[in-house]
Amino acid sequence: MKMDYNIVLIGFMGAGKTTVSEYLRDTYGMDVVEMDQVIAEREGMTISDIFSVHGEEYFRNLETNLLKELQSRKNTVISCGGGAVLREENVVEMKKNGCVVLLTVTPETVYERVKDSDGRPILKGRKNINDIMELMEKRKGKYEAAADVMVATDGMTIQDICEEMMKKLMEHRTDVI
Ligand code: S3P
Repeated sequence: MKMDYNIVLIGFMGAGKTTVSEYLRDTYGMDVVEMDQVIAEREGMTISDIFSVHGEEYFRNLETNLLKELQSRKNTVISCGGGAVLREENVVEMKKNGCVVLLTVTPETVYERVKDSDGRPILKGRKNINDIMELMEKRKGKYEAAADVMVATDGMTIQDICEEMMKKLMEHRTDVI
């Protein structure tokens, strides 16, 4: 199966965007672009270092530029950083050649997934369920407004998540090549 468009994965940190991308690559042979990874490689430093050396605005500009660049692709899973929906112009880019899939997750699950890692500068000093919940609530409207399709991931296997997602995508768009 090949798609004439891209799947743009959005959602909060720890929602499972990377895991879903890998599954779609392995199962459906789609190409994958992990935005954070490309940005880190190009800058030659970790996301945390980019934030601490250059600041968030600099990182957000890189994100916008990369999203613009990626719209020339097709049959690609674009796995966005959790904050990519914060700029309206990013969402416009995502929709140019992509179907936007929101993965939702509870703050408790996010906490379990992020508690032992230090790679997420936005959660520095806020790695607790309440702060995660607060930030999630603050972003919720933007995530939902950007989404063409939504999948709730808690308690689901990766296979269930991807099957539900593909089913919803097929209902949303029929241009498979
Ligand atoms: C961010 C999420 C991160 C990364 C950066 C900022 C955010 O990506 O882009 O640390 O603002 O939510 P993940 O969602 O892949 O963790």
